[in-house]
Amino acid sequence: MTEGTRLIRGLEGVVAAETKLCDLDGAHGRLAYRGYDIDDLARHATFEEVCYLLWYGELPSKPQIDELTVALVAARAIPDQLVEAFRVMPKDTDPNRPLQAAVAMLGMFDPDTNDNSHAANVRKSIRLTSQMATAICAHHRVRTGQAPVPPASDLGHAANFLYMLTGRRPTPVTTKAFDASLTLYAEHELNASTFTTRVITSTNSDMHSAVAGGVGALKGPLHGGAGEAVMRTLMEIGEPANVDQFAERALAEKRRLMGFGHRVYTAGDPRAAILKGMAEEACRQSGQFKWYEIAVKLYERIHAAKKLIPNVDFYSAPLFYSLGIPVDDFTPVIAAARIAGWAANIIEQTDDNRLIRPRGDYTGPGRRAYVPLGKR
Ligand code: CMC
Repeated sequence: MTEGTRLIRGLEGVVAAETKLCDLDGAHGRLAYRGYDIDDLARHATFEEVCYLLWYGELPSKPQIDELTVALVAARAIPDQLVEAFRVMPKDTDPNRPLQAAVAMLGMFDPDTNDNSHAANVRKSIRLTSQMATAICAHHRVRTGQAPVPPASDLGHAANFLYMLTGRRPTPVTTKAFDASLTLYAEHELNASTFTTRVITSTNSDMHSAVAGGVGALKGPLHGGAGEAVMRTLMEIGEPANVDQFAERALAEKRRLMGFGHRVYTAGDPRAAILKGMAEEACRQSGQFKWYEIAVKLYERIHAAKKLIPNVDFYSAPLFYSLGIPVDDFTPVIAAARIAGWAANIIEQTDDNRLIRPRGDYTGPGRRAYVPLGKR
């Protein structure tokens, strides 16, 4: 290569943006949003407060959170045409695809779709956060032959999500566990999907296009798709008594174990520690404690053998399952949380933009003469 610098595979350790959103200390297993420790936010703040913090820079006062809550509730409806589109989509398709299509469609209906000003981007953040939640739940209802549940204006974001998904009003304990999960998934620096949204934003495209791209990146099993894969692993194991045999075989086969390992955290993922406690409680309450038991036993075996840490997706899997979320909707649920961070990153990127355009290190053949088709 004659121009550019050294190749860094997977961009590991490369700093690609300045950000005031997320402070991720991988060596010490610490994470904070705009200076507030994730543990405090998950325990004490609502997802709506976290959205405010990410989009506006400070925790809201009471009038400020009331105003944002009213705006989020007012933005919950989705166009009838989107529900119609869900009806004609294949019922057995991976729900990430309808979600990606839904985000693109919502862009067609959004009054600010081509306005990338700061104010318009904040308005679109509010609308997308509410509408993606409604779209995910409406899609699930339609694909299972049920009528979509209209949003309940007296419920907060987390409770309303579970209500629209299941048709039942969740208990305060369930609501708190889900609300805290949304907070834990809301933002995570330059993970693959957020980086994707920044790359798309950097071309002066628009928020809906960037978020649709983010959904596509999140879907992969090395990223947000890992949660679903963890649950499928737990189901494959089936019973706590089967863990040892499973772990032995998986280690012998050098199988990649979903929900383990992380590019940045070496001392442990702080989100996993919080989710572990919530998963224990939720699995116990729902009468499905065995999923938690299998997860803990699997962690002990894998950690002892390979020192791999559990990441955010490891304990969220039994937690989401015990909350009644369908396994193939785990990743869309993560998207419903990560939209807060995607939107904040899109705003930050737009407000101080430079096209993101790295180089490739060419390793193909040297220059050669074109051979006409008939002579090959
Ligand atoms: N199972 C088995 N071995 C693993 C795992 C795993 N989950 N993760 C890392 N390793 C081993 C890997 O085999 C390699 O060993 P060796 O050097 O002997 O070949 C070493 O650890 C380094 O792995 P890597 O793939 O080069 O590390 P990376 O930084 O590129 O990958 C990762 C990070 C998250 C993609 C990886 O740990 C992984 O595939 N984990 C499973 C998928 C997963 O849980 N993803 C969710 C990540 S956190 C949430 C999110 O991003 O949404």
